Amino acid sequence: MSGEFILPRAASKGDPLRLAVLISGGGSGLSSLLKHQSSEGRNHRTVLILSDRIDAGGLEFGRESGIRTLAIQLPSEPDLEKRRLLHEQEIHEALTSYDTELIVLSGYMRILTPWFVGKWKGRIVNIHPSLLPDFPGAHAHRDVLSAGVSTTGCTVHLVDEGVDSGPILAHREVPVMPDDDEASLQERVKRAEHLLYPSIIDLLALGEISI
Ligand code: GRF
Repeated sequence: MSGEFILPRAASKGDPLRLAVLISGGGSGLSSLLKHQSSEGRNHRTVLILSDRIDAGGLEFGRESGIRTLAIQLPSEPDLEKRRLLHEQEIHEALTSYDTELIVLSGYMRILTPWFVGKWKGRIVNIHPSLLPDFPGAHAHRDVLSAGVSTTGCTVHLVDEGVDSGPILAHREVPVMPDDDEASLQERVKRAEHLLYPSIIDLLALGEISI
């Protein structure tokens, strides 16, 4: 299934773009986005924080900031495909009930179905911890270290039906140090992510991104 990417509207400070942030883990990216949005003059704001795990540490950032925060777990449906679809239908309903205009994946560890992507295409953005198209998938830092490259980074991209394959909006490079392990590399890349992601979301919400 494929279709056109429909980008979000150009928003303004007076009528900011309504973001939903989807997380699965610690939420350091969510925290940096919320900090960014707490400054005056942003043309986007987070209206919903959603996790697929009730134990996601990042849910705490939502609770602290008074933003509606939901954990929607996979339902107990035995058929795998049906289970994914039911889960995403529930997420889709939550997103529409909050008038979401842009879905920000921030460490959301599930691959979205073509059904879900089709509903939101152009309005789902992701950050991946490598310089895509190099090192897609769930183990980017491990793969970067085994490849022995000296530069990695992060990529902001629109989500399509593939895995880490949608149109690339921006890269930020990060050096790999000779004594890096996965943890040290992840930490350095996250620092870059926390600068890059909010700045690209600013541009998306200004209508200044075209693909
Ligand atoms: C980030 O490195 C992001 O690129 C990847 O998952 C990590 C999430 O970290 N998709 P956090 O939960 O925001 O701390």
